[in-house]
Amino acid sequence: MAFLLGIETTCDETAAAVFLDDGTILSSVVASQAAIHARYGGVVPEIASRAHVERLLPVIDDALQQAKVTPEELSAVAVAYTPGLVGAILVGLSAAKGLCLALDIPLLGVHHIEGHIYACQMSHPEPVFPCIGLVVSGGHTNLFLCQSANDLTLLGATQDDAAGEAFDKIASLLRLPYPGGPSIQEAARQGNPKAFGFPRSLMDEGNLDFSFSGLKTAVLYAAFGQNAKNRDRELSESEVADLAASFQQAVVDVLVEKCRRALQQHQLRILCVGGGVAANRLLRDSLERMAERERVTLVIPPLSLCTDNAAMNAVATEKFRSGQFDSLDLDAVGGLIRKRS
Ligand code: KG4
Ligand code: ZN
Repeated sequence: MAFLLGIETTCDETAAAVFLDDGTILSSVVASQAAIHARYGGVVPEIASRAHVERLLPVIDDALQQAKVTPEELSAVAVAYTPGLVGAILVGLSAAKGLCLALDIPLLGVHHIEGHIYACQMSHPEPVFPCIGLVVSGGHTNLFLCQSANDLTLLGATQDDAAGEAFDKIASLLRLPYPGGPSIQEAARQGNPKAFGFPRSLMDEGNLDFSFSGLKTAVLYAAFGQNAKNRDRELSESEVADLAASFQQAVVDVLVEKCRRALQQHQLRILCVGGGVAANRLLRDSLERMAERERVTLVIPPLSLCTDNAAMNAVATEKFRSGQFDSLDLDAVGGLIRKRS
């Protein structure tokens, strides 16, 4: 039995976890920075990096203590090295390398998106692979063909904003608090999702990509007039509710339809979903209905495994067992996953 430490700092969650080489999770600690970024209406990369520096060692200590494991008992460190905010990743990666060097143990680089899909396997009793994977967060909106936990092929990606980013930006436009997802969802409860016929982009046959910039502009103009010329206008509560509900419906319609297409195109019967937007009630309900209609199994992990965490870095246990270690030269690779155009 070997103990592994997981470290995650790709965005604004500072996270560490301890797990066994068979994937059993012993502890998982997440320090969210949401409150720090709230006043800016989105994650500020430089502030995220600094906050990781302050929090990472206490978070690692907590994870080790909760698991009752000492650093000397660790057999490897599994750290997310891509994709995400490069400055933020560097903090986790440097700490991981330092620990590996000091403890003379191997480093395992984790592809963060593989972790999000693996989180579905962690929360489902049957094997989920092969499956279609949807990762929807503040940074990602991607569809994958997942042959195994370490074999993902990108089928579709956002060409502009991620879905969560669109929620955050529209919330800020409607003067709702950050993070935007939960506040749009709350405002939408009182609204009519058919009040505005907002665009559903890239719906041409077979297309699996996403675009939310046209939708964003449509909401802006619906709220403040053509070219947003009345930008200072006060919006009534019912206007905000209708705009939020119609916006949310447009995003969800597109996400659900693209998942359905991907499942159909690849003749697969399992859909795995990860990322913070998977918390959205309308999205969950709509995906469930689609899955029932299409006779597909839908796997959405509990929220603590949907949002960024280090327990899902247990995806690296397979690499650990087969001795596929990374060198201490491993680079942080920032940015988003995009399709080559
Ligand atoms: O996965 P996550 O915690 O962090 C990363 O982006 O990596 O996702 C955060 C995103 C934010 O954009 C937030 O607005 C969105 O997930 N989100 C939601 C909901 N809860 C969080 N979006 C829609 N509906 C929600 N209930
Ligand atoms: Zn993530």
